[in-house]
Amino acid sequence: MSSKLDIVARILSGRGTKPGEAGRAFAPANIALVKYWGKRDEELNLPVTSSLSVSLGALGSEVTIRRGHGADTVILNGETLPADSSFARRVSAYLDLFRQDSSMVFHLDARNTIPTAAGFASSASGFAALVRSLDQLFGWDLDARELSILARLGSGSACRSLFHGFVEWHAGEAEDGMDSYAKPLAETWPDLRMGLVVISSEEKAISSRAGMKRTVETSPLYTAWPSKVAEDLPEVRAALRERDFHRLGRTAESNALAMHATMIAAWPPVIYWKPESLAAMKRVAALREQGLAVYFTMDAGPNLKLLFERKDEGAVAAEFPALAVVAPFGEGRHAIDS
Ligand code: PMV
Repeated sequence: MSSKLDIVARILSGRGTKPGEAGRAFAPANIALVKYWGKRDEELNLPVTSSLSVSLGALGSEVTIRRGHGADTVILNGETLPADSSFARRVSAYLDLFRQDSSMVFHLDARNTIPTAAGFASSASGFAALVRSLDQLFGWDLDARELSILARLGSGSACRSLFHGFVEWHAGEAEDGMDSYAKPLAETWPDLRMGLVVISSEEKAISSRAGMKRTVETSPLYTAWPSKVAEDLPEVRAALRERDFHRLGRTAESNALAMHATMIAAWPPVIYWKPESLAAMKRVAALREQGLAVYFTMDAGPNLKLLFERKDEGAVAAEFPALAVVAPFGEGRHAIDS
């Protein structure tokens, strides 16, 4: 079995070893339309299934990394995190993979361009931006596949945040995961919109890592998940090709609900929904019955992400006050319209 360090050594062999002073990079957040839920390898973040996401344009993370002295420091949105906070520890453990000796220290400054109040400060864009900034700092000049694999070692879904637009993470089969990485799709959809319905921006009680593990180990419904993904992936690919909005929305919503069904059947149950989440889901269903083309997806948390098209933005926003609307393919990749 390979360790993270083995994979890093393999990818970096023969690459630049003389670090400069600093590296800086941006990576977009991404929302899966066909979800990644469950690992076949916990150490390397290798997934049971492939997944497919859309990136959020200008919404994501900007990371600057500098070499320094003393101990690692992590600044998040202008605040220095305590060294023993879970995020700072996770970043330092990840940086351990790249230190050339124990005296190599890093100062990391990360800024999310997603308003924190939007309730989904995801680690995916952070790790993807960190990998790109390390590539600059060390002058490795890695290709997209290698960057995606390194990002996956930080957080699974981070391997999709290396790219804009629609992105597919190919699960791969190799034990060392060298064939498990993300690739951008050619399709675009300028009129596609995503609306963020914030139910709560509190940190979730169960991390996605823990929720996935418990689901895989205890949920009797998990055996159905790979076949659900195998049906949904070609559906979403076809919907993107044909710009068939209903096909896209229906498949994404049903995929997210199936993922949540596997969690709810775990023991102890993994339930991320709040009463307001369910109320919002019912509102989406009611609006659809009235003829409005709107669907939702949800991740490991209580918030909803609505899917609709530009022409319906006014109607959807009228039903969900305070909706933050994202245009993943928006002009200049400016994402939030309102
Ligand atoms: O990459 P992680 O460990 O944050 O897991 C992400 C899991 C989901 O957001 C629920 C699904 C996905 O594909 O992004």
